[in-house]
Amino acid sequence: MPTLVIVGAQWGDEAKGKLVDVLGSQADMVVRYAGGNNAGHTVITGGKTYKFQLIPAGILHPGTVAIIGSGMVVCPKGLLDELERTVAQKSEIGKLQISSAAHVVFPYHRMLDALEEEARGENKIGTTSRGIGPAYQDKVARFGIRMGEFVQPEHFKHRLKEVLAYKNRLLQMFGSPTMEFDALYEEYSGYADTLRPYVVDTDGLVQAAVETGLRVLFEGAQGTFLDLDSGTYPYVTSSHPVAGGACLGTGIGPRAIQSVLGVCKAYTTRVGAGPFPTELEDSIGQFIRDKGQEYGTVTGRGRRCGWLDLVVLRQSARLNSLSGLVVTRLDVLSGIDRVKIATGYDYEGGQIDHIPANVWDFAKVKPHYEELEGWDQNLRSCRKLSDLPASTRQYLEFVEDQTNTPVAIVSIGPDRDETIMVRPDLVWG
Ligand code: IMP
Repeated sequence: MPTLVIVGAQWGDEAKGKLVDVLGSQADMVVRYAGGNNAGHTVITGGKTYKFQLIPAGILHPGTVAIIGSGMVVCPKGLLDELERTVAQKSEIGKLQISSAAHVVFPYHRMLDALEEEARGENKIGTTSRGIGPAYQDKVARFGIRMGEFVQPEHFKHRLKEVLAYKNRLLQMFGSPTMEFDALYEEYSGYADTLRPYVVDTDGLVQAAVETGLRVLFEGAQGTFLDLDSGTYPYVTSSHPVAGGACLGTGIGPRAIQSVLGVCKAYTTRVGAGPFPTELEDSIGQFIRDKGQEYGTVTGRGRRCGWLDLVVLRQSARLNSLSGLVVTRLDVLSGIDRVKIATGYDYEGGQIDHIPANVWDFAKVKPHYEELEGWDQNLRSCRKLSDLPASTRQYLEFVEDQTNTPVAIVSIGPDRDETIMVRPDLVWG
């Protein structure tokens, strides 16, 4: 069963887009399972840069079916802009299909996202302001409008009327302007007309592909520690980025997953608020931010940067039952004399090797580090593990030993070719 989940092993932005593009060339179907246009997946190939937020990055391969799964929330306008941009950049792309069970993001979700952040005062999450949390709230509250309803004009009209009446009462409560039904319906009906041909029961398509032995890649968004249940709550997103989310958000069961690759940077980054024990607020942090261009694809915010944290990766390996790791952005660390890796935490006078369940306890931990020799060579021309400097290989071996998880792939630059396949056997199982 050649099925593979690609999951972010840290707090998102691990360069999953590049990996989905590289492995997507070997897949028949690429299915994204969670999140919305809070994600930003960048693919650089053939001298062009593609930026995806909703469309699975695998769409760049003609012949691939690219599916927006049922676990996603979709901003129709954002999706249409993205589709237009992609088609303008590349004449031949894969076939896009959108799950009829995915939920629609409306402007009132974005308004409520901003109002809720304001209401949190000092405890702001630092969301991407895309209305993602409020859209998932509606899904859970059974107020959501799904893509399948959205593209049926009469049904959509009826549902929007019912939901908007409620949302307007909420907006009024916040003292915010309300939304006018006719204008909203007219605008969104236009988007629905264009998107209608893409909307189908994708669960059936995915199940059939898995059953017939096609290669199916499940594309994660965000990262493990932004997961609503397993992440650093409340500083999380509102969906399930962990590998288990691939089942919840695409219509398959756990036994349909063969391999899980956890993508991690050679260091750590985080966007938005929340604990980050290995954060570097010094010149090394700034060096990583500048060299790695660590600025958000969606919001443009500077990402918080820090050393690699193996407590985080060990927990990630367990939460996602990782088959292997994909270590990205090793090139960014070139030029740092001595690199540090956190191996455990000091917590209330003792030592722990896990993330405390309560985020306020997690905020109190102090990492202890192992220091390793750095490297200053440019790694971008390396194509085999043996091309890497000895100290870089030692760094990778240390990560493998400490996480008990083999390194399957190493990425040493943004381009498709700047990839070292260490254990191809771990990719499709
Ligand atoms: P939301 O997903 O917009 O509700 O934001 C919730 C938290 O998740 C914030 O800290 C965001 O910065 C973070 N977040 C959401 N999407 C991404 C992503 O794609 N990469 C990194 N952080 C993200």
